Amino acid sequence: MLKDNEQLTFDGNKYDFRALVLRTVSDLSVAKGGEAIRSLEEIHCAAGIRENVETYRQACFSLFRSAEFQRIFRALGADLIDQHYAGKGFLQTTPTVRIQLPGADSTSYHCDAWYGHGGSVRSFWMPLTRVSDGNTLYLASDKSSSEQCIAEIGKSMATLRQINEISKRYCHPINAKFGELATFASYMIHGAERNRQDISRVSFDFRIASNEDDLGSKSRTNFYSRQELDGTAGASVSESTEKMVGITYSNSCCGASAKSQLLLCTAFADSMGIDVVGNESEIYVFDHLPVLRSHIESSGFKINCVVVFGTDIFEGNEDLAKSVLEAADRSNMAIVFSSESVIYRKGMSKENVIGRLRGKAVA
Ligand SMILES: [Fe+2]
Repeated sequence: MLKDNEQLTFDGNKYDFRALVLRTVSDLSVAKGGEAIRSLEEIHCAAGIRENVETYRQACFSLFRSAEFQRIFRALGADLIDQHYAGKGFLQTTPTVRIQLPGADSTSYHCDAWYGHGGSVRSFWMPLTRVSDGNTLYLASDKSSSEQCIAEIGKSMATLRQINEISKRYCHPINAKFGELATFASYMIHGAERNRQDISRVSFDFRIASNEDDLGSKSRTNFYSRQELDGTAGASVSESTEKMVGITYSNSCCGASAKSQLLLCTAFADSMGIDVVGNESEIYVFDHLPVLRSHIESSGFKINCVVVFGTDIFEGNEDLAKSVLEAADRSNMAIVFSSESVIYRKGMSKENVIGRLRGKAVA
C-alpha cells in the first residue's frame, strides 16, 4: 500500500524519459534558429521559449503520444501497477508536462479531487531536472494536514490568493532528481511557488487509479488497464497503426454556436495529431442527424473518424446516440468527442458515451 505521500525511485537508464524530452526541446530550439540545449535545467535558453512556452509544451505532448515514448511509459506504468496495485490498476494514457522557467509562477495550490479525480486515484510526479525549494512541487505532509488545510480554506469564501496563502503553510518542497518519483493521493494539497532558482524545472505527472469505477469525472478512454499495457488494445491515438484522418462536424448541439464547435473540434484534432480534411454541418431541421450518418457510413472524404464538439451533439437523446455509435461500429469509424476527450472506437463500451447523456434530455 502506498502512503498518502511517498517518494519512489525507478531506473532512469531503463526509463530514460529525460533523454527523449531533452532531444525534443533541443531539436525544436535548433529548428527555430537557436542553440542546442545541453540539459533540461537550461531549457530557458531554448529559442523563443520565454515568449511562448506553450510551443515547447505542445512539442512534449506530441512526444508523449509517440510510440517511442509510449513504449517506456507503458512499461513503467505496468511496473508500478504490478508493484503497488497487485497487478490491477489503470494508468492515464498521456502524462501532463510542466515547464517552469526561472522567475515564472506555476500551478496554484489544489488537490486533484477538486478537479474531478476519483478518491483512490493517485498522482505520480516525475522531475526531469533537479528540483528543490523554489523550483519544485510543494506538498502537504500527510492526510490529516491536508484535511486541516482544506477545512481552513472552507471556513470562508477564500479567494484564490487566500487558498494559496493558507496552503503554503501546510506544504513542503519536494527535493528530488531524475530517477525519483513522488506519489500522493488525490486528497493531498499541493502546488508550486514562483521559481526563485536560476535553473528551470521540467516535470511530468500522470495518474493511476486502482479501479475502473473510481475514475471520477475522467473518461475510461483516458486510461490503460493493466491488460492493455501488455498489448496494443486501447492504445492512444498515435499508437494505433493507422493515422487518424477525419472531418469536423457541427449541429445544433444544445445551442453551442457552429463557430465555437468548429474551433474546439479543430484545436482538439490538432492536439491529438488528427488530420482534418473537411468540415460538414448538419441539416438542422432533421433530428436524426442524416449528414453525420452519411459521413459515418460512406463519406466522400477518405476518413476514419469524425470529430465532433462533444456528446451534446445528441442533445440528451440516448437512442439517437446508440444508433449513431452502432453505425460507427459497422463502418469501423471512430467518433472523437472533443469536449470530453473521448475517442469512441468499435469494441469500446457505448456506455462511456451514452452514460454522459443521462439527465441531459432536451424536451
Ligand atoms: Fe495536481
